[in-house]
Amino acid sequence: MNILVTGANGQLGKCLRKIAGNYDALHFKFMDSKALDITNTRSINEAFEFEQFDYCINCAAYTNVEQAEKTPEIAFAVNADGVKNIAVACKKNNVALVHISTDYVFDGEKEGGYLTTDLPKPINQYGKSKLTGENSIREILDKYYIIRTSWLYSEYGNNFYKTILNKAKTESVLYITDEQIGCPTNANNLAKYILNLIASSCTEYGIYHFTDGKAMTWYDFAKGILRETNLDKKVRVEKAKNYRTFAARPRNSVLSP
Ligand SMILES: NC(=O)c1ccc[n+]([C@@H]2O[C@H](COP(=O)([O-])OP(=O)(O)OC[C@H]3O[C@@H](n4cnc5c(N)ncnc54)[C@H](OP(=O)(O)O)[C@@H]3O)[C@@H](O)[C@H]2O)c1
Repeated sequence: MNILVTGANGQLGKCLRKIAGNYDALHFKFMDSKALDITNTRSINEAFEFEQFDYCINCAAYTNVEQAEKTPEIAFAVNADGVKNIAVACKKNNVALVHISTDYVFDGEKEGGYLTTDLPKPINQYGKSKLTGENSIREILDKYYIIRTSWLYSEYGNNFYKTILNKAKTESVLYITDEQIGCPTNANNLAKYILNLIASSCTEYGIYHFTDGKAMTWYDFAKGILRETNLDKKVRVEKAKNYRTFAARPRNSVLSP
């Protein structure tokens, strides 16, 4: 099976690249934002016409939640319009789309985990742009998997796990918020889940929730990271008081399968 991976130099793209060789039956074309800009329809048409793909895994996204609040037009250009461009190309070329979405499509007011059938109601621009992308896919395509995930971390890119380890090098006390609860998810596990889904030739299209399954606060997560790396003897975690961000964040963004 021929698979196009867009946004291939991001965190998830790199995790997919790392394990791609384990799947003999899958052949990959990895395209980063320079090789394929999903906001550029001409470039998309060229990529899809040059080769017949069976699947497209869209890892391309604008993921800076804080900046998206200040310049929403950039977030919407990629996460809404860019995703629509990809969906149109998939439809035209009979390609199944695997698209990654987010826990931030929910408002966080539910008690308990969000189900795939729960009504999204994003409270920040990033979440709104991602939901618009999801809706375009659902309107345009029949063959799609929208996989919502949360709190991604790995050895690649910028993420909370790496931030904590970096801070621990210079600080003896870290002040971390306990005001939000979610499920940290190793992007390597998500990559495996996606490729197993494709390798299984599953035709149950629709929305999926994938996380590593354990709900916790950022405070708990930070403590866990320090414990796991034996830095907890040296570095202490305290609950941050008056923690404020520019973008509103859902209080509870736990995703249930
Ligand atoms: N990170 C999280 O905590 C998290 C949580 C829930 C859901 N998700 C979703 O999971 C997916 C993967 O996230 P990630 O952590 O791997 O994100 P990431 O590391 O920020 O990677 C996103 C990639 O998309 C590329 N990109 C941006 N604009 C593009 C464009 N116009 N055309 C093509 N590529 C473009 C970026 O390239 P440049 O670097 O060159 O701009 C980057 O390599 C995203 O859909 C995200 O919304 C992430």
